[in-house]
Amino acid sequence: MVVKDNLRTPIVCVMGHVDHGKTSLLDMIRGSAVVSGEAGAITQHIGATEVPISAIVEKCGNPGLLDKFMVPGLLFIDTPGHHAFTTLRSRGGALADLAVVIVDINEGFKPQTIESLNILQQHKTPFVVVANKIDKIHGWNPQKGAPFMTSYNKQSEHVRGSLDTKFYEVVGELYNHGFSSDRYDRVNDFQHNIGVIPISAITGEGIPDLLMVLLGLAQRFLESNLHYNAEGPGVGTVLEVKEERGLGTTLDLILYDGVLKKGDTIVVGCLGEPIQTKVRAVLKPRALSEINVEDKFKQVSKVTAAVGVKISAPHLDGALSGGSVRVATAETLDAVVEEVRNEIEDVQIDTDQSGITIKADTIGSLEALVNELKKEDIPIRKANVGDISNRDIMEAFAIEDPFHSVIVGFNVNILPDAKEKVRSTGVKVFMNDVIYRLIDDYRDWVKEQRA
Ligand code: GTP
Ligand code: MG
Repeated sequence: MVVKDNLRTPIVCVMGHVDHGKTSLLDMIRGSAVVSGEAGAITQHIGATEVPISAIVEKCGNPGLLDKFMVPGLLFIDTPGHHAFTTLRSRGGALADLAVVIVDINEGFKPQTIESLNILQQHKTPFVVVANKIDKIHGWNPQKGAPFMTSYNKQSEHVRGSLDTKFYEVVGELYNHGFSSDRYDRVNDFQHNIGVIPISAITGEGIPDLLMVLLGLAQRFLESNLHYNAEGPGVGTVLEVKEERGLGTTLDLILYDGVLKKGDTIVVGCLGEPIQTKVRAVLKPRALSEINVEDKFKQVSKVTAAVGVKISAPHLDGALSGGSVRVATAETLDAVVEEVRNEIEDVQIDTDQSGITIKADTIGSLEALVNELKKEDIPIRKANVGDISNRDIMEAFAIEDPFHSVIVGFNVNILPDAKEKVRSTGVKVFMNDVIYRLIDDYRDWVKEQRA
């Protein structure tokens, strides 16, 4: 096998609307590898599953492929709710190297499907689309784990017709959103034409095809990104800040470049001055089957990108999801602190003289919200991370333009003492956990007020 040690594992994000089957797809990919005796080689990380190349190749049913691909494996990232993904994407540009957008073939496009596509387009991330749940098509005759064409050819003409109709609706929707696509076996260049793969995350039909296409894309990615420094200082993005019994505040993070070791000095992004601390423990979750919480993590001395890990360290309170974690040495510390500080400040968005106030739960979601509002030409006066406070209300109240005396909150709460202020000032507050709905609600309200 031509796997080189210093190659970075490509990160593959699975995205799509709620319930369209992201987790089931990953379960299927994981499970199939377990069935084929690879259990020991599969690591279940925090929100991330590392699947070694050998398991992928076996699933594709073509062992000869091992010589063809240099990819060490794929790090799949599940995205529970769309904002988590924007958080993931927000730092390092290349955090998700590739993506799978999943759409329920029976339901078609939904708001988070569209949002996923927009995010990928904005970051120029190569992706494939899977049209999931083909087994739910009326009359479907399931062929467990079969490649798509094998299964397709075993269906009655009527069922094939239903699949084609639904399939081309997906292709049509992609076209409406500016993407040219076709069934993956008719696509030559996956970076210019989106491949769409009909699958079932439950029966496994089409999964070999999906893995093959992903390997092809991953190989392309590696060829253009061999400069990644698997030996250099670790750089990662915080997924979640969590209290863990016995460990205190911990960070779940995706390390996307370099090495992170126990004892390393790290700089962590937060709302104020970046946190400087020392890694007390690097923890990797053990195999999925071990459910005992206290026993779930294994201490390791170091990890290499790309990998999902939990770390514990003193003084992590205030660390920001979506912020970065960078390893520093005595020589680089000042520069690294400066870098992390700038990354956070970049998010303190260029603001307009007058405009609405926006609040969001993470840096990633704030960025996504700002981008969407800018697309709609809605001016923003102030944008930051955190719950809606008294001060936010008072500042919004002071704005003269009634259409700007507004707070738009994504996935945040109104702090208790600010609730009363909302009532007494009459400042209009919009809150939602779907970005599009927030923007629609705001626009509808403006229209209503003007009418
Ligand atoms: P969120 O994490 O909530 O966004 O959902 P998800 O996209 O991860 O969906 P999940 O995998 O949890 O699947 C939602 C439901 O759809 C579950 O009941 C699955 O069993 C079912 N499901 C997923 N894929 C398939 C499929 O291919 N066929 C059928 N019949 N059911 C499926
Ligand atoms: Mg899920």
